[in-house]
Amino acid sequence: MTISVSEYEQRRTRLLSQCEPNSICIIAAHSLVTRSNDTEYVFRQNSDFWYLTGFNEPDAFLILSNSPRAKASSIIFVQPSDPHAEIWHGRRLGVSEAADKLGIDAALDVDDIDEHLTELIDGHVHLYFSFDAEPRVESIINMSLAECRNAPKQAKLAPSTTHDIQPLLHAMRLIKSEAEVKVMQQAADISAMAHVRAMLFSQAGKFEYQLEAEIHHEFAMQGARNPAYGTIVGSGENACILHYTENADELTEGDLVLIDAGCELTGYAADITRTFPVTGRFSDVQKELYQLVLDSQKAALKLLVPGNTISQAMQACVRVIVEGLLELGILNGSVEANIEQETWRKYFMHGLGHWLGLDVHDVGIYKINGNDRPLEIGMVMTVEPGLYIPKTANVVEKFKGIGIRIEDDIVITQEGNHVLTSKVPKEISEIESLMAN
Ligand code: GLY
Ligand code: MN
Ligand code: MN
Repeated sequence: MTISVSEYEQRRTRLLSQCEPNSICIIAAHSLVTRSNDTEYVFRQNSDFWYLTGFNEPDAFLILSNSPRAKASSIIFVQPSDPHAEIWHGRRLGVSEAADKLGIDAALDVDDIDEHLTELIDGHVHLYFSFDAEPRVESIINMSLAECRNAPKQAKLAPSTTHDIQPLLHAMRLIKSEAEVKVMQQAADISAMAHVRAMLFSQAGKFEYQLEAEIHHEFAMQGARNPAYGTIVGSGENACILHYTENADELTEGDLVLIDAGCELTGYAADITRTFPVTGRFSDVQKELYQLVLDSQKAALKLLVPGNTISQAMQACVRVIVEGLLELGILNGSVEANIEQETWRKYFMHGLGHWLGLDVHDVGIYKINGNDRPLEIGMVMTVEPGLYIPKTANVVEKFKGIGIRIEDDIVITQEGNHVLTSKVPKEISEIESLMAN
């Protein structure tokens, strides 16, 4: 499942149609990032650049123009074919293939970008680029702007207004197309299989990093080479560290293990958390806390529908958590007082979820004019309540050292929402019966 060349074309056209008349946009690819000495991290494309091109090489630039006088409305600067460099560092699409393959009007050699960019900018009134572009990109843009402004006899017209391209682009990225949802469903399915594999593999004496290896193995075997973020495998009290990625400890009988892992497929992330007993059977206390988190998630899911806000769902989720913690004696007082004083935050210290897409914490604003934005069809988000009770908590001993999160990914639909990640079990009985096999 991929995104078609024509969908990338439509995205570029739609972006340009929302820019001021006589605008030029400059969107840069990422560069390789050094890991140590002369080795680099696995390349990950800039998500905005990827969204508009589907092109996965470093150091490229996309230039878009809606000026009727522009020679081309889309131009891509790419690394040129270079047999020597390609033997060492990998294949390049090259200038001669790029335009055709990517559905872009023209391709040029990125080594010549300084020469061309001044000419391309000339005559446009508005310039759009990312205001948090890397310094390398900013300096290329600034140099061309300066050259345009300082042309002899004022022969060139430099854009007089600059705009941050991100608000336009990120508003587009927030609403997923049918093709995007299909890719994300596939990323979710692969990630679900990986979680199931880890559940089946789990036993006392294995190490957290070995569960991580099972997860990554399944991702790759199902066609997704990379995780979308650092995989979290936290057993026992490690589950109370929200972004625990050491994954170093041995699994102990009687503990729960929390796995937060999702693959990246065609650039799109899945983000799933499941918490399960190391040896497959929940204790009574673990059941009580787990069921509470699960019930709170279900309360939230009911309200995540078009027109509602995430805050509304969070309120319903918190009410279930507070009622449950009162029943267990972890909180005391009235439901309303605990909700108002946010006493629950000590044990549930993060939000209900976040947008999901090309970035795991995806782009798109959560508030409009200070108000929570209503959910719309095509938004994809996570729903991930949790309870974390560290050993230092002032609660009865039996609750200490337990961390639980249940995280699913949903797409908002006309009917309400669709859970993309339903292929990995989350009911206590389902988890126990899967692990018993
Ligand atoms: N995996 C990071 C998160 O759940 O937000
Ligand atoms: Mn998440
Ligand atoms: Mn997560």
